[in-house]
Amino acid sequence: MNYSTKLVKVNKDPGHGSHISPVYLTSTFVFDDAEIGAKRFAGEDPGFMYSRLGNPNVRELEEKVAALEFGEGCLAFSSGMAAITGCFLGILQAGDHVVAHTALYGATHAFLTTTIKKFGIDVTFVPFKTGEELEPHITDRTKVVYFETPSNPTLSLVDMESVAAISRQKGALTIVDNTFLSPYLQNPILHGIDIVVHSATKYLSGHGYLIGGLVISRKDIIDPMRKEVQKNMGANLSPMDAWLLYQGIRTLHIRMDRSQENAQILAQRLANHKAVDKVYFPGLANFEDKNIMEKQMKGPGAMISFILKGGYETGVKLMNSVKLSTLAVSLGDVGTLIQHPASMTHAIIPKEEREKAGIDDGLVRFSVGIEDVEDIWKDLEMALG
Ligand SMILES: Cc1ncc(COP(=O)(O)O)c(C=O)c1O
Repeated sequence: MNYSTKLVKVNKDPGHGSHISPVYLTSTFVFDDAEIGAKRFAGEDPGFMYSRLGNPNVRELEEKVAALEFGEGCLAFSSGMAAITGCFLGILQAGDHVVAHTALYGATHAFLTTTIKKFGIDVTFVPFKTGEELEPHITDRTKVVYFETPSNPTLSLVDMESVAAISRQKGALTIVDNTFLSPYLQNPILHGIDIVVHSATKYLSGHGYLIGGLVISRKDIIDPMRKEVQKNMGANLSPMDAWLLYQGIRTLHIRMDRSQENAQILAQRLANHKAVDKVYFPGLANFEDKNIMEKQMKGPGAMISFILKGGYETGVKLMNSVKLSTLAVSLGDVGTLIQHPASMTHAIIPKEEREKAGIDDGLVRFSVGIEDVEDIWKDLEMALG
């Protein structure tokens, strides 16, 4: 099947033949006899036992997403952060070391600077773009190399193939947060990355109606994580959310194509606007990581960040001036969302750290939706004025 068909195709319901799977809103599953129960707990029978350990809607979702990201398996979590922290806690132990990129989503950055330290794990933040730039920071204790590409919110890129090659050679696993592009526009596993994580809250769901996270990898990584992280920590996705997410994914390509087309037009207009100092968008001709983009991305995506002249105050003023774009964090919704990282998603990161990561106080993050592009522009132009 070609990719679009893979997205849309649904499984045949084994029960009553409904076109769309029913929602299995049940906490537990009945065993016909004690022997079946024992076999399921021993892993000798594929049936379900208890929804924290597996549920038909969650399994259906996990199988679809594993195929879309070219992985052998997938685990669904109750949020993107549960998926990300689940990976770290599942893989690492006291004494291990992580190399993380400097430009990360705020809560991921906070987890790596605070929570993980309590478990005796060291983290070094490095602004690497290539394996060559990463290499000097890997030690014999380094178990994980973690990054986002494109990064949030500056949209800088990391060359996945070279980073994966160096990390593998040094015995470290690579984890990529692929939230900004979705599996439709980028597949890190095809570029040698070991583990992909998603905040499914964003493009995969697409409709802003749920919080969810996904981890995709090889069987030898997913199977132990399912037994240890999902079972013992219990940050599982609910059957209802798994069902909603599965339905959202079926239109991913259409939503992504339209949002991306709108973003390309808006980024070009923003780049020529006198109130704007700089635009970060991979589709612009002067985008600094163009060579990396061509190697690994199927399109520029639909996230634009731009720096307003006038800093923090101007950023806040723009937030209070837009009328069509929704002033809200999150991204990847069918409706356009706007937010100001310095006062919102990245406020938790100290100003000096933010500046090192290119997050100017006047930076605005714009998640372009599928509305009529002229309406989005009219609103933005009015607010910029
Ligand atoms: C790039 C990225 N990764 C991870 C997350 C965390 O996901 P969630 O909010 O689903 O926990 C976010 C949330 O905004 C994000 O933007």
